[in-house]
Amino acid sequence: SSYKVAMVGATGAVGETVLAILAERDFPVSELVPLASERSAGGKVSFAGRDITVQLLDTYDFEGVDIAFFSAGGSVSREYAPRAAAAGAVVIDNTSEFRYQDDIPLVISEVNPHAIAQYTSRGIIANPNCSTMQMLVALAPIHRAVQIERINVATYQSVSGAGRSGMEELGRETAALLNFQSVEPGKKFPAQIAFNVIPQIDDFQPNGYTKEEMKLVWETRKILEDESIQVNPTAVRVPVFYGHSEAVHIETSEKITAEQARELLRQAPGVVLVDERKPGGYPTPVGEAAGADGVFVGRVREDISHDRGLDLWIVSDNIRKGAALNAVQIAELLIEDYL
Ligand code: A2P
Repeated sequence: SSYKVAMVGATGAVGETVLAILAERDFPVSELVPLASERSAGGKVSFAGRDITVQLLDTYDFEGVDIAFFSAGGSVSREYAPRAAAAGAVVIDNTSEFRYQDDIPLVISEVNPHAIAQYTSRGIIANPNCSTMQMLVALAPIHRAVQIERINVATYQSVSGAGRSGMEELGRETAALLNFQSVEPGKKFPAQIAFNVIPQIDDFQPNGYTKEEMKLVWETRKILEDESIQVNPTAVRVPVFYGHSEAVHIETSEKITAEQARELLRQAPGVVLVDERKPGGYPTPVGEAAGADGVFVGRVREDISHDRGLDLWIVSDNIRKGAALNAVQIAELLIEDYL
């Protein structure tokens, strides 16, 4: 059979990639409905070689839609996702709006696909944050083998995580500076992003961490179904267009050697090990990750400061596995096992 699919936020960075991946993977779509705000309604997006007219979300009736992807921001999901679910669609939501609610499954296709079964309670499945996604695709097999007690992680996150306008801001600032012009404060980032790094993503929380950092804590515990796992994150925006990187330091309850970890990672679904101890023998956003599906892991080594410590470098395309690809993989599991 085939399915009527709606894409809320079809003109955005994630939305357009969802459409591309649905076509690439031959997802059985009987009808595709691209949705956006009045800014884009009436325009066209391309899907599977055809131009399709974007419709206005405000007035759209979800009756008859089987699967609705949402990637238009938290406030749009808050209002419209429950309406779509009430009309009978299964919602796959890319925002953080529902992720921390107990009766909403939060799913990484390679890590906890069984959690999808819970979708029946609200008709909504949440797609994790991009930084959590790539970290856990790599760490879940290690956690299962030797139980991770603590994760120290610093992220190096690309501007596409802030949407199309984030990429435009980096481009505009870079062009201005290369032309010896001054840079106006941008709207998307709290400081100049061109030729800079910014240790703040999302809002500050009362404990001094940012919300982006706390997402790594909350989502790791929920997805691994382990409330005891300790996570200490620093999330940093860097002037890269596509692909997040992470320096990850774990402490395990049983010792694991670098070679044992490499062997687990070689077999881990979704992981590509790029780990040669020579110049270029590790993944980078531009070199491996951008435009690719994998979670790339390198720099695997035993921590010289801790006898049950292991260090890894994890890179993935935040728009693909970090968002659009995992959403489509959830939809594939959904139609295979549940719809
Ligand atoms: P629009 O083109 O109408 O602004 P990005 O994350 O790349 O910034 O993209 C955000 C996506 O969410 C875009 O497709 C945008 O559509 C859509 N969007 C934002 N606000 C709304 C809204 N109030 N109603 C519907 N779609 C929205």
